[in-house]
Amino acid sequence: MPSDFYVLPEPRHNRATRLLHAGLALAIVSQLLTSLAMQGPDDVQAGDILFQVHRYSGLAATVMAFGLWLTILFRLRGTDLGALIPWVSVRRLSALWQDIKVHGRAALNLRIPAHDPQAALPSAIHGLGLLLVSAMAASGAVYFVQVGLGLHSAEPDGMIAMTVHLALGNLVWAYLIVHAGLAVLHHLLRSMSLATMWSLGK
Ligand code: HEM
Ligand code: HEM
Repeated sequence: MPSDFYVLPEPRHNRATRLLHAGLALAIVSQLLTSLAMQGPDDVQAGDILFQVHRYSGLAATVMAFGLWLTILFRLRGTDLGALIPWVSVRRLSALWQDIKVHGRAALNLRIPAHDPQAALPSAIHGLGLLLVSAMAASGAVYFVQVGLGLHSAEPDGMIAMTVHLALGNLVWAYLIVHAGLAVLHHLLRSMSLATMWSLGK
């Protein structure tokens, strides 16, 4: 274990990234939990209280996802946008392929590779996760606007935005469980501290 494990000279992620990540993660957890029990809207009623929580924390998630994209674009410190979205660069794709092989070999040996903040595969998966929740947030917001403007009844069935929303819901569960699970595992194995992302300080 590195002796300076809990002594981070400068946080890897800037404060705006950490605050928006925490807010977005908490909003998404509330979205997923409410979706398990809520009575959604239809032609005759507007949905129960859990749906109202889903709706308004979903709109908050939309703002925070947008804010996180802006922060990623303009921040001076943190993961490069190109590492989060490597799909258009031959050099990034080649680094991703090398890292997939490193992770594949480790998995075959039932090991988890040591946490590497520059590693291509985790960054690419973080980028996919952020795209995924952005698509959920955007499709929910489009539904909200369409219903609000009276362009559609509140019944989600048959709306393109809601077809996308309902189709992606399970992927968000999968992302949250794997991403948060690996973060906690790395913390317990002491190859990374959860405070790299979950600290509110400067
Ligand atoms: C669905 C909700 C979540 C989303 C969309 C999400 C998204 C992200 C993204 C995009 C990054 C990369 C940020 C960057 O490099 O600029 C990241 C990093 C991180 N996330 Fe999450 N996250 C979520 C939930 C969580 C939860 C619940 C935990 C903790 C249990 C967590 C722990 C971390 C940690 C520790 C990092 C830093 C990894 C590193 O520096 O290498 N995330 N997350
Ligand atoms: C990142 C934000 C969001 C996430 C992760 C999310 C997640 C989910 C999930 C997992 C479901 C259940 C899918 C299923 O039953 O298979 C759902 C349903 C739904 N969500 Fe969201 N949601 C978000 C934002 C929103 C927003 C902003 C609205 C706008 C009002 C919204 C409106 C709905 C509606 C109308 C349903 C269907 C309810 C029904 O089945 O009757 N969501 N959402």
